[in-house]
Amino acid sequence: MLREFIFKANKTITSSNINLKDLPGSCGRLDLVCRCVSSAFFLSHDIRRDVIFYAVFYGEPNPPVALKFVGNELKKVSPDERNIAIFIKKALKKFEETPENKKTEWTESTPGIYVAKKEFRDIILEKKNEGKRILYLHKEGKDFENVKINENEDVMFVLGDHIGIGEEDEKFLEDIGAEKVSLSPLELHADHCIVIVHNILDKRFKK
Ligand SMILES: C[S@@+](CC[C@H](N)C(=O)[O-])C[C@H]1O[C@@H](n2cnc3c(N)ncnc32)[C@H](O)[C@@H]1O
Repeated sequence: MLREFIFKANKTITSSNINLKDLPGSCGRLDLVCRCVSSAFFLSHDIRRDVIFYAVFYGEPNPPVALKFVGNELKKVSPDERNIAIFIKKALKKFEETPENKKTEWTESTPGIYVAKKEFRDIILEKKNEGKRILYLHKEGKDFENVKINENEDVMFVLGDHIGIGEEDEKFLEDIGAEKVSLSPLELHADHCIVIVHNILDKRFKK
């Protein structure tokens, strides 16, 4: 089973002008993106190869910019926020150097990290059209412990940042038949949600 996650980063910077000493402030909560990447992939001394993580940045000056991280291709990335931010900075630089007519296609920046001009909804729709199940993580959804998933079913989990995904994208998810699933009665950080999802699926399928 391939586990895919997509994270909407409403305010994250879309230029490579990243100040590594100020990921939460001038970089528009890039710290959240880095923590999500860390939670999506890193085990103790290993990487989850069966994971793909997308983040779509909607901050200034050039939104949207989508990043794709592919677990079975990643090299040299380590779990700390600063290291991940350096790879994101390289990807945004690569995007700036990509010719305009190629920007909507995925371009590889470093092994397993791709960048493109793509909308959050278009990536989700593409997955839906490929027959993947779309699960929107939300406090008010159905308890994930009671959601049946087959071991060989590919699933995409949708997550918001500190602002959430917004009403329009929520309506879009409803229209395409995404299932709303909850991990806790409490409002959690997105990176913690990823850890919980992995834990629930690991206990079901990695015994
Ligand atoms: C910090 S929360 C977002 C809070 C934001 N104020 C809102 O209203 O959506 C970040 C994301 O984590 C996910 N999340 C938070 N708590 C959750 C829960 N109990 N169950 C499932 N997903 C949750 C949601 O996808 C949410 O958009």
